[in-house]
Amino acid sequence: MIVTEEHKKELIEKFGKSVLFKEPMALHTSFRVGGPADIYIMPKNEKKLQETVKWAYDNRIECFVIGGGTNLLVTDAGIRGITIDPTKCLEQIKIRELKNGKVSITAMAGARTSSLCAFSIKHGYTKMEFAYGIPGTIGGAVSGNAGTASGCIADILTHLKILTRVGEFSTIERKDIEFSYRSFALKKEKNPIIVSASFQLEKSDSVEVLKKAEEIIKKRKKNQPKGVFSAGCFFKNPDKKKSAGKLIELSGLKGEKAGDAEISEKHANFIINRGNASASEIMKLAEIVRIKVKKKFSINLETEVQIVGEK
Ligand code: EPU
Repeated sequence: MIVTEEHKKELIEKFGKSVLFKEPMALHTSFRVGGPADIYIMPKNEKKLQETVKWAYDNRIECFVIGGGTNLLVTDAGIRGITIDPTKCLEQIKIRELKNGKVSITAMAGARTSSLCAFSIKHGYTKMEFAYGIPGTIGGAVSGNAGTASGCIADILTHLKILTRVGEFSTIERKDIEFSYRSFALKKEKNPIIVSASFQLEKSDSVEVLKKAEEIIKKRKKNQPKGVFSAGCFFKNPDKKKSAGKLIELSGLKGEKAGDAEISEKHANFIINRGNASASEIMKLAEIVRIKVKKKFSINLETEVQIVGEK
């Protein structure tokens, strides 16, 4: 797939200032690494999102949705085709009261998970506690079935609004979604684009909810590095009882470096960009981790961070 001058002209006519070319992905990822995205579109609304997806399909150009860029490692060569950034406008949150003290909250894909958490804390809604402190967007959280030991997106999701790859809107019920540990798939649609997600929460005591939130966030602050360039936990936990961080620490890898990439001294499942790391340095360090953990524990660590872009 080649992006021609003709393509660029057409896109500028359609999207004006919402389309950028050769946009450095390092500006849009929490790792602060990644080469250019050929075409970077920030749709203003659902209709523009649909136009983007249809245009990509008609022109046989690949289309990738970035989310918050917080669980992402973009290669140094960058991303070919279209990258969609939903965080600029697709971020509304709506609430609908149900019976028996339950509420349905619908969040657009570009809404921050933290905004949804803040919203539920403010109104005293429970069931969202597991997500306190999880970075990124709702779209990203759903597509990675984000969660912690105390719960995950699959536990509260009721339905999704998606766009198919040919650009048609569709509503998907929970029963037609297959969730597993940090991943999701639809039974009938491959690789959909998430437009919005609806969750069922319950009304509770706001003081209790706030207290719980503060406890969880305090624990995270204590155990995880803050204010650094990283993508959170780099590897999946091999199972419920085994923490990848612990295995990496026991392999003697805290503080290990490759160029400007480093294994955090605070939590060994965090790879940190100390400022000038490249994606290849991060991948080199991840490979060292995989090899050492495999040698010591005979466990194959799988990446939790999504790696995208041209190799
Ligand atoms: N541990 C170590 N050394 C380390 C890190 C952890 O010995 O360097 C030990 C801890 O002492 C603890 C156990 O491993 O006994 C589990 O550690 P922790 O509570 O930090 O949880 P985790 O399994 O490492 C998971 C999620 C985190 C989430 C925390 C908080 C995964 C891969 N990680 O970490 O998610 O914040 O629970 O509940 O599921 C993320 O998704 O990016 C992420 C950081």
